[in-house]
Amino acid sequence: MLRCAQSSAEEEAVVDMGTARILFDKWQDSYAARMDSVRSSAIRDLFAAASRPDVISLSGGMPDVASVPAFDVARVAHDAIEEHSALALQYGSSEGRPGLRLIVAELMAESGVRLGPDDLIITTGAQQALDLLGKIMIDRGDTIITEGPTYVGALQAFSAYRPNIVCIPMDDGGMRVDLLERELERIGPGGAKFLYTIPNFQNPAGVTLTPERRRRLLELTHEYRVPVIEDDPYGRLRFDGGHVKPLKALDDEVVYVGTFSKIFAPGLRLGWMAAPRPIVGKVLLAKQAADLCGSAFTQVIAEAYFSKTRWRRVLQELTRVYHERRDAMLEALEEHFPPEVRWTVPQGGFFIWVIMPRFIDSNTLLAEAVEHGVTFVPGDGFFPDGRGRNCMRLAFCYAEPDAIREGIQRLAEVLEDRLELYRAFLNAGALPGESDASTAGDTRALGG
Ligand SMILES: Cc1ncc(COP(=O)(O)O)c(C=O)c1O
Repeated sequence: MLRCAQSSAEEEAVVDMGTARILFDKWQDSYAARMDSVRSSAIRDLFAAASRPDVISLSGGMPDVASVPAFDVARVAHDAIEEHSALALQYGSSEGRPGLRLIVAELMAESGVRLGPDDLIITTGAQQALDLLGKIMIDRGDTIITEGPTYVGALQAFSAYRPNIVCIPMDDGGMRVDLLERELERIGPGGAKFLYTIPNFQNPAGVTLTPERRRRLLELTHEYRVPVIEDDPYGRLRFDGGHVKPLKALDDEVVYVGTFSKIFAPGLRLGWMAAPRPIVGKVLLAKQAADLCGSAFTQVIAEAYFSKTRWRRVLQELTRVYHERRDAMLEALEEHFPPEVRWTVPQGGFFIWVIMPRFIDSNTLLAEAVEHGVTFVPGDGFFPDGRGRNCMRLAFCYAEPDAIREGIQRLAEVLEDRLELYRAFLNAGALPGESDASTAGDTRALGG
């Protein structure tokens, strides 16, 4: 079927072919080549399916904002806007309101990081910090290092600057620093522009970098002169024990990216970046070009929320809710998923990473899953090079426990159908066993 998305067929024609959409774009010759390497996020594409009432979404990493008391937010927001209206409605400073930077410095001090308000800037979410860091650091063809799999939004942000992305495999202890060392030897000192890592409850894998590996990662990056960018949205969402200390607590040269999205609400679009001052200065220049300054309006609200409400109790409740949902998902996976499939066991955050036999393509599986009323995110979007097709990311942060159990059961049924075929081929000797087929014989690697 051919239909016109706009008033004129010439402007943008969309061909629907089952679930596929092919877009003919009259302006395609007008775009910069850098946009060729920026892929659409499968997660955004899934939003339409996920919002159907009969579909259980295990795809989006959306915080449970229902646990944030709207009345309290409205009350402090009302008072703060009234009190600071001249500032809240005006352009602000590019680095962000001093009061909010002070609050961030205090939050970071609780994580063992000592810094002052001048060592950080407020950004439009962590996402903007990633984009600006890409902008100030990456030239076309530069090598950057990430975990594999890694956060889709970081791949999107960095890809626009056309780097060569080297992915270091992970296992249940986070990034394999032995493999990082091997890569750094190959690339040589000063050869990589930066290393990007999400050490705590990683998105998408859910795993956390072990203490020994943290120390080794910092040793290696110093030895090979590679700046470290630490993205830490989930560090405070730990299910047992206090929040996990960031890498920046061990090394003040680390560039730290934080966000209010998971400890308050993503709708405010507020995050921050803490870094050595020369880097802060460069990011500030890039930020001025991007948006002049962030929203003073939402900064005033965040300042009031963190100084005038019982936000710690709310965070505790959020963490309890995520813990309960994680348990529901793990129990359902144990009960319903086939024995050939394995998954990570996160101690915090939002996500579980599932590794299926290599024969299974999670993209085609998704089409069937949507028909069965459940969504997840296929694994290949979390790699820059199409690896991870046999993996998927499940988010336990959003659906209620009963819906999670139902969603996993639906997904298990779809998987079981595929695996029957797989077992038949395997028994007939038509497929290699998983350990034979896996790269470097490492069956604990998290895909790819
Ligand atoms: C690892 C990671 N970094 C950055 C972000 C973006 O966060 P923000 O909402 O602050 O832009 C997310 C959002 O899910 C994330 O998972």
